[in-house]
Amino acid sequence: MKRKKIVAGNWKMNKKLLEAMRLSTEVIRAAGKLANGSVEVVLAPPAVYLHTTISMGKRVPQIKVAAQNCHHEASGAYTGEIAAPMLQSMEIDYVIIGHSERRKYFHEDHALLQQKVNTALAAGLSIIFCCGEPLDVREKEEQEQYVLQQLQESLFHLSADQWSKVVIAYEPVWAIGTGKTASPAQAQAMHAFIRQAVAKQYESKLADQLSILYGGSVKPSNATEIFANTDVDGGLIGGAALDTDSFMAIVKAIL
Ligand code: PGA
Repeated sequence: MKRKKIVAGNWKMNKKLLEAMRLSTEVIRAAGKLANGSVEVVLAPPAVYLHTTISMGKRVPQIKVAAQNCHHEASGAYTGEIAAPMLQSMEIDYVIIGHSERRKYFHEDHALLQQKVNTALAAGLSIIFCCGEPLDVREKEEQEQYVLQQLQESLFHLSADQWSKVVIAYEPVWAIGTGKTASPAQAQAMHAFIRQAVAKQYESKLADQLSILYGGSVKPSNATEIFANTDVDGGLIGGAALDTDSFMAIVKAIL
């Protein structure tokens, strides 16, 4: 079975309204010219622009829209927060869960992320679950154990059926926004490790169908060599997703 190829642009906390609309318009137009089914182009704008983005992308099947976060409860008295069922009601496709910036700045731990995973899946959303080790862990060569624990504690309670809605993004923390990228060999090694771990916990058919994205300073100049690896099924792109030309160059690198 051929795995789904996905290139997702995580805009983080960037762009004002008109800039966001322009970027969405340009990417949607460019993605509409790609062969349908060749790659899924995911836009993850700030939450305030989700509605506009989803309306603009509706008629382009190559485009999917992701929220960058959701709350761990389905509703309630949580001023300022956004619930997964709200996202689902807007026909949002994905929610990113466990991004390293959420883990670091908002102290989201394994248990909380497990709750977010459950709430998002229960609402009918698909998830892009981020994992990845910080620099000191990589220097001690303990990255596999570290990432395995992230998966065990927040994802391995899921049923096999639920995995059809899961995409994993491996993002070594030391490569995010730093200009440093994992080498193609480092990316491939970790992606293969993640796939094996899922195969061991569930079954190999499920693991074979799982899309695993790489994230961390992916640029037009390094995307081709990263995407060329057998177990790399796409990318989660931050900085380079803020410009249509660089983002689309990365999207095209996977075709
Ligand atoms: P970056 O961010 O491409 O700017 O390194 C990736 C991410 O955080 O998803």
